[in-house]
Amino acid sequence: MNDKLTTVILGAGLGTRMKSAKAKVLHEAGGDTLLNHVIRAALAVTPPERIVVVVGHQSQKVQESVRIPRVRFAHQPEQKGSGDAARSARSAIDSDEGHLLILNGDGPLLRAETLVQLVEAAKTQGRGGALVTTYLEDPTGYGRILRDKDGMIAAIVEQKSGTAEQLAIRDVNPGVYCFAAAPFWKHVSELQPSVPAQEFYLTDMAEILARHDYPVAPFPVEDSTELLGINTRVELAIADRILRTRKNTSLMLSGVTIEYPETVTIDVDVQIGADTVIEANVQLRGTTTVGSNCRIGTGAVLRNCSVADDVTLLPYVVANDASIGAGASVGPFSRLRIGADAGEHTHIGNFVELKMTKLGAGSKASHLAYLGDAKIGAGVNIGAGTITCNYDGQRKSPTVIGDAAFVGSNSTLVAPLNIGDGAYIAAGSTITKDIEADALALGRAYQVNKPEWARKRREAAKKRN
Ligand code: UD1
Ligand code: CA
Repeated sequence: MNDKLTTVILGAGLGTRMKSAKAKVLHEAGGDTLLNHVIRAALAVTPPERIVVVVGHQSQKVQESVRIPRVRFAHQPEQKGSGDAARSARSAIDSDEGHLLILNGDGPLLRAETLVQLVEAAKTQGRGGALVTTYLEDPTGYGRILRDKDGMIAAIVEQKSGTAEQLAIRDVNPGVYCFAAAPFWKHVSELQPSVPAQEFYLTDMAEILARHDYPVAPFPVEDSTELLGINTRVELAIADRILRTRKNTSLMLSGVTIEYPETVTIDVDVQIGADTVIEANVQLRGTTTVGSNCRIGTGAVLRNCSVADDVTLLPYVVANDASIGAGASVGPFSRLRIGADAGEHTHIGNFVELKMTKLGAGSKASHLAYLGDAKIGAGVNIGAGTITCNYDGQRKSPTVIGDAAFVGSNSTLVAPLNIGDGAYIAAGSTITKDIEADALALGRAYQVNKPEWARKRREAAKKRN
């Protein structure tokens, strides 16, 4: 960490070209907002209390979207340009010492290592600091870099104000700056509104500082993919793809097998243990964690789930806010909703749905069941077609099932209910009363067989015709 470095992230703009009601930095790629990706990179060089995010459009929502504690915020009341935005951060910064790292909030691909190197270059190569430059085949939309005779930055010319000759330059400003703080704050008031946009361009600071004998050094970065600024949803999709590839690559290098990685979507915060196999078309979202030696079958969609070691998910498991214990097997076609907690070595089969339900170790619900608001012990067998009737139209009620109980197929369990350890429910029962431990419960009409009835009926019908 650099103890004399402050980071300012510009995130006040609406992002007109996104054609969205949502502030641009709130749009997501790779499983997080554009802004959070930039903050992540900044954390490699500054602690959160020295990161200031400039907010404007939907400031409340933008502030709430930042999950890292102690990050600071500054307000830019009117969106009068990136220079004005940087200026607005002044009130949230305690000192003029050292350097000031300024980052566009719409550059989610920026790598932490690049920032580390830029800060180093700023300290040693330019009295005014340094800024990242890169070459683009198509520089349209980016500020073009003009250099002086010593190779330092003479000026940055914006797309809107450049001459044809300047616009032919392919050396561009990706919006990653590290200025010497004292001269920056001393001269930032010299920014003039641009022609024709009438905005205060942060990019003009390079020329202003050079004029006061604080030249800014270029810090060229060869791989321009990490410097893509997101202005449209087309670029958002490109960034998403790059972030997905990066995440998959880092997981594979850490020992996770991913089949057809180009079809697999894994959010940036997801963690997966070694020797786990991720099949094609899987989505692992949010804060999901998966242990080691698991197999996640094709079509699984997991959000904010916790999966222990040695778990097998057969194809098409859909789960959110659920937890799956070690050695469990789930699917195909199972649905685990919020609060589903499948214990170790449980088995949950096809078309089984769990919600706010704990299934104890080794218990099985192999086919076609709805288990809601239930606490189910260990070694329980839930027969096919079992339904916990947990909702009477007004209230939710709990079902408690003791260890080693046997629930016969097609049982209707009308909650609230307490079913004792080792109890046995006959198939097809509708259970409305508690069952004591080790008892047999039959909740169905007795069967009556009438000998010869069917044959007589057939013969009577034949005579009538
Ligand atoms: C900016 C640079 C351009 C560079 C490009 C790289 C300027 C003047 N131009 O252009 O040289 O090549 O980024 O992607 O900076 N913002 C505010 N308040 C404002 C205006 C903008 O906070 O009043 C923020 C935006 O939220 C965004 C950043 O500043 O994160 C850059 O603004 P944007 O409008 O995207 O600038 P570009 O036209 O892309
Ligand atoms: Ca931009």
